[in-house]
Amino acid sequence: MTQLKLFGIPGALRQNSTNRKLLAAARHAFGPADYAEADLRLPLYDGDDEVHSGVPAAVQHLADQIAAADAVIIATPEYNRAPPGVLKNALDWISRTPGRPFRDKPLAIMSVADGPGGGDRSQYALRLMLVSFRPALVNGPELAIPSASTAFDAEGQLTSERHRATLAELMETLRAVASRR
Ligand SMILES: Cc1cc2nc3c(=O)[nH]c(=O)nc-3n(C[C@H](O)[C@H](O)[C@H](O)COP(=O)(O)O)c2cc1C
Repeated sequence: MTQLKLFGIPGALRQNSTNRKLLAAARHAFGPADYAEADLRLPLYDGDDEVHSGVPAAVQHLADQIAAADAVIIATPEYNRAPPGVLKNALDWISRTPGRPFRDKPLAIMSVADGPGGGDRSQYALRLMLVSFRPALVNGPELAIPSASTAFDAEGQLTSERHRATLAELMETLRAVASRR
């Protein structure tokens, strides 16, 4: 039997990002899968560039990775109460590619942030952004992890048993949705 294809999109660029760690934990909780991760170092969306040069190859590659996946996870920080610009920029570009790669795609979103809400405002803004993409968004359980600096131990494990359990339930749900397709 072929493995499910799982695609992770980290909303932060930095290597030591806690949201990258969350994607790693989510991948583990999801279970056996072919896993790949997005690189959001894309050009800034510029309508003039689009007219003159079309969709950049890096954007089309990202769109193709999303289209090929059986399930997608977005793990995003909260920057000033919203998702980071790199994630918004990527979604803006993706919306300009042909083929609607997110349409009906099983998708789970989650966040780690320093603040007490764990990035919940970022997730709500992201939900709104995603409406026009019409993914098969898994609605819950919600996973918003506060106190980013203490959320993971040295081995990259979530330190909170409650968060581990929520992640497991969310990934079980995502896997079930992806397996039904
Ligand atoms: C520009 C910027 C804005 C931030 N704004 C918020 C915020 O609104 N709410 C919050 O909880 N944390 C905020 N933080 C702190 C982030 O939650 C924290 O740096 C987190 O670790 C970022 O995610 P990462 O570890 O994946 O890079 C902000 C950090 C930066 C750099």
